[in-house]
Amino acid sequence: MVDLSTKYLGLTLKNPIIAGSSPLTTSLDSLKKCEDAGIGAVVLKSIFEEQIENDSDLKVTENEAYLTHSDAYEFVKNASMDREIDAYLTLLEDAKKSLDIPVIASINCRKNGAWIEYANRFVTCGADAIELNHYIVAADREVDGTAIEKEYLSLVKAARKQTKAPLSLKMGSSFSSLSNLLWKLDELSIDGVVLFNRFFSPDINIETMKMAPAAMLSSEEEYAQSLRWTALMSAELHYDICASRGIHDGKTVIKQLLAGAKSVQVCSVLLKEGLASVSKMTSELEAWMDRHEYAHIVDFNGKLAQERIADPSSWERSQYIKSILGAQKS
Ligand SMILES: Cc1cc2nc3c(=O)[nH]c(=O)nc-3n(C[C@H](O)[C@H](O)[C@H](O)COP(=O)(O)O)c2cc1C
Repeated sequence: MVDLSTKYLGLTLKNPIIAGSSPLTTSLDSLKKCEDAGIGAVVLKSIFEEQIENDSDLKVTENEAYLTHSDAYEFVKNASMDREIDAYLTLLEDAKKSLDIPVIASINCRKNGAWIEYANRFVTCGADAIELNHYIVAADREVDGTAIEKEYLSLVKAARKQTKAPLSLKMGSSFSSLSNLLWKLDELSIDGVVLFNRFFSPDINIETMKMAPAAMLSSEEEYAQSLRWTALMSAELHYDICASRGIHDGKTVIKQLLAGAKSVQVCSVLLKEGLASVSKMTSELEAWMDRHEYAHIVDFNGKLAQERIADPSSWERSQYIKSILGAQKS
């Protein structure tokens, strides 16, 4: 009998497949459906401080005619912000009461925001872990790469100071030296990183010649970047890696586990193909483990990490030259 359980952020998951933060994790009903479909854990939709503030500003503007006193502005704004945070806390509490699987709260962080105070409130309401979600489009030419990396490190440092609860960072892949940043995060006693988030990217509609949103969902070829970085770093770091982006089937889950990921997050495949894809993935994993006579995930987890293979440089290779020459000969 194959055992699919894994440890991630110190939590025991019945299988390594986590529902990533998305519209599927915004209501109790859909969270329950994820659990019924066999998912190992859920990450709630991120709470966006910026969004809450904008919504509250909108409320203030809508009521402008009645708000003659300046204190009233503050009151309406704060009351509206509190309502949104309370709604998130209620979802978290309800999820904890109704689900048996781990529930991870997700916070979209800003440099100097009040988000840090949420972390403790989420833990009090039962969050099994906190996932920080941060992304900067490095479009300001005055800000160099070191400053951006420092911002990530200081966010994690501040969160670690606030809470002893399991803490992870979900991040993008665009850094000048990702390995250095991941290594520095290790020094901050983080419990895990999610490699990688997939961000909204604007596009252009050439007929209307206007801005258009790009594809919201990932394609199944997009897993390669997180596979490489998981394999490069998993044996070097003390914290866990959760692989994410472009994971659409059981084969890719197996690859990520072989590279050293402790768990994987899925989102697009659930939105595209429905929750039945969870049992397809776990069945594929189970059948593969059976075929290769692995009883537990730890028996093969990280087997193909850079440190464990005969030619470690394969994970660092970036040029196609040999493959091109090979293709020309055949
Ligand atoms: C509609 C939509 C909403 C999302 N919202 C969030 C969010 O609030 N917080 C977050 O960290 N990631 C969010 N994500 C990113 C996903 O959790 C996931 O990291 C990303 O889609 C890559 O995984 P995938 O290839 O399995 O889709 C969202 C993705 C989609 C498609």
